[in-house]
Amino acid sequence: MELGLKGKVAIVTGGARGIGGSIVEGFAGEGASVVIGDILFDAARELAEKLAKSGAKVIAVKTDVTRKSDADNLIATAMKEFGKIDILVNAAGVTQDIMLVDIEESDWDRILEINAKSVYLTTKAVMPHMMAARYGKIVNISSRSGKEGMPGLSHYAASKFAVSGFTQASAKELAPYDINVNAVCPGILRTDMWEKILDTRSARTGLPREEVWARAMETIPLKRPQVPEDIASVVLFLSSDVARNITGEAVSINGGARVD
Ligand SMILES: NC(=O)c1ccc[n+]([C@@H]2O[C@H](COP(=O)([O-])OP(=O)(O)OC[C@H]3O[C@@H](n4cnc5c(N)ncnc54)[C@H](O)[C@@H]3O)[C@@H](O)[C@H]2O)c1
Repeated sequence: MELGLKGKVAIVTGGARGIGGSIVEGFAGEGASVVIGDILFDAARELAEKLAKSGAKVIAVKTDVTRKSDADNLIATAMKEFGKIDILVNAAGVTQDIMLVDIEESDWDRILEINAKSVYLTTKAVMPHMMAARYGKIVNISSRSGKEGMPGLSHYAASKFAVSGFTQASAKELAPYDINVNAVCPGILRTDMWEKILDTRSARTGLPREEVWARAMETIPLKRPQVPEDIASVVLFLSSDVARNITGEAVSINGGARVD
């Protein structure tokens, strides 16, 4: 299937590594230009340089997605460099595996700001350009935790439910401008994020890390480990005109762990 992404301009927050990094590589491979907005600037620049060697146009912009000035600068830099923005993927995110009884106000604020407020900030900054062009695709990386709350992840679930709700509402507001807004809800992937969860859950439960991982995998009907490319391929599809009639969706990619 031809996705038609050649010549498109995509911004990917959290694109320095993990799921976001795989999305960046996917867009570059399809011939799109990419702007990576990440707080890990060195890693983002390294990835941009690696992809540029194979002819892709990829730049890195140091961005803390919780700061309005950084979000505005990310969008302005993309406009300055490429003259348009076709696609925004909000992949930046963090988690913290901690029981509610131990969550401090500062933990709550940090998780909600990085995972949810950031999506509002970048969407708000990009939408005038997409509305003027009467074209745009926004894909937000939510989570299985955006559909189902699980122990140890209450503030994370709140942040990802927020992303799912914001996706639905903004999809309806932006539909008259031919802008599609969707979310994807990954299950579990062994990126840096899950390596940290294994550390904390192992310490909390006294189970060895690999036992914690094995128990998490037991909840996956397909049993197949997920890799970032599994998420990137759906994000690329939703960023393309092939998916032009899909908006306001939150697509589960979780090996059948939650089906709705
Ligand atoms: N790994 C999983 O199992 C899983 C499951 C469901 C959803 N997700 C979601 O997928 C997204 C990517 O996660 P991942 O697993 O690739 O994790 P990761 O830790 O490998 O990547 C997260 C990226 O976000 C960036 N980031 C964090 N805070 C930032 C900030 N304030 N400003 C800018 N960039 C920031 C990091 O630097 C990093 O590059 C997140 O939104 C996460 O919630 C992950």
